[in-house]
Amino acid sequence: MGASIVKEYDVIIIGGGVIGCSIAYELAKQHKQVAVLEQGEISSGASRAAAGILGAQAEIDEEGPLLQFALSSRELFKNRVNELREVTGIDAELIEKGVLKVATTEDGLEELKRKFSTYKKWDPSVEWLTTSELKKREKMLSSIIKGGISLPNDGQLNAFKYTKALAYGTAVYGGDLYEHCHVSQIIEENGCVKGVTTSQGTFATSSVVVTTGAWTSKLLPYVTEKKVYPVKGECMLLKSNKPILKHTIYTPEAFYIVPKAGGKLLVGATRTPHTFDRDVTFGGMSKLFEKAKELIPELSHSVFLKSWTGLRPQTDDGWPYLGESPYMKGCFLAYGHYRNGILLSAKTGELMRDLINGTQPKEHFFNAFSPERAYSLKGG
Ligand code: FAD
Ligand code: GLY
Repeated sequence: MGASIVKEYDVIIIGGGVIGCSIAYELAKQHKQVAVLEQGEISSGASRAAAGILGAQAEIDEEGPLLQFALSSRELFKNRVNELREVTGIDAELIEKGVLKVATTEDGLEELKRKFSTYKKWDPSVEWLTTSELKKREKMLSSIIKGGISLPNDGQLNAFKYTKALAYGTAVYGGDLYEHCHVSQIIEENGCVKGVTTSQGTFATSSVVVTTGAWTSKLLPYVTEKKVYPVKGECMLLKSNKPILKHTIYTPEAFYIVPKAGGKLLVGATRTPHTFDRDVTFGGMSKLFEKAKELIPELSHSVFLKSWTGLRPQTDDGWPYLGESPYMKGCFLAYGHYRNGILLSAKTGELMRDLINGTQPKEHFFNAFSPERAYSLKGG
């Protein structure tokens, strides 16, 4: 490896978002020597922008491996958030009051009616609600809402605090966090990982985990922007002096209003694919204002606090890539969690920990996310 080595680790995680920090936390708990290398600050990518909805059912309405993955991950949050509070003192503000998925159009209503049986099959506590039943649960909802579904087991948390807690938890268990440390190359010899070249020098390791989200195609030469690409999302935060909501409100068009601590309401989100631009736009904000006002007219009187954007890591087939690279032994991949990286992070941490430790995860859905499906030597 030529250059002098800064330090050697059992495992190096590239990327300090929720996925990298979750895997690092699981490995550090097992006393692995682990480092997280982040080009900006911990949780400065998509994980900072996220609304924090644990929307296994609100977001995923088709049966299959992704729904199984999501449901199994959602189950882990209560214990994980409690554990992180004890280990780090950071409260990730988990709220388990459920999601109301509501339609404001006839098309939206038809879609919800079609999907209802799938929801119910996976979770008998799911209920169909008429407009008046919805308004009994949330009296500020607009009367133009045509009906909806109660998803009582979908929760939400503060994604930024949760990611920070995972990072600090990693440090509590002896892991190292490097910020402003850009990884330019994974060093390989005879098909095996040997280390990484970074803006802070060369680190040695036989295992790296690539958790670089929307930026993955910039690091891995065989991953093109066709396979993983950014989908920009814009959000805003409002504050109301009156109590407005208890449940998260989610529409079939994937707009949402999430009630946060202290009377704050997070409104999201737009979707603009194939751009690394992170500006907040007038058009994006207008859409969110219109949608928020349509769902809850009272929000016109709320105070606008702030707005922001983030880049969701989307993949060519919409599923994340989890597994060892077919090209390089010791190069593990965990990217492409698109709209659900916060939700999927808990199970991703456990699955990747086991794989890195040499144990094939027993969860039957895991193989569906294998990188082999994309890199079947057809040339990225
Ligand atoms: P990121 O958080 O983007 O982390 C990747 C990190 O890698 C970045 O910090 C980046 O700086 C770093 N990096 C990249 N290249 C390098 C390099 N070469 N060297 C060093 N570091 C590098 N998900 C949910 O589950 N629920 C939600 O409610 C939700 N809401 C969302 C709302 C918005 C507006 C957006 C944008 C996303 C939302 N998501 C949500 C999706 C979720 O945020 C992502 O799926 C998740 O954050 C992806 O995590 P990650 O760690 O893969 O990526
Ligand atoms: N999961 C919410 C979003 O991606 O906007």
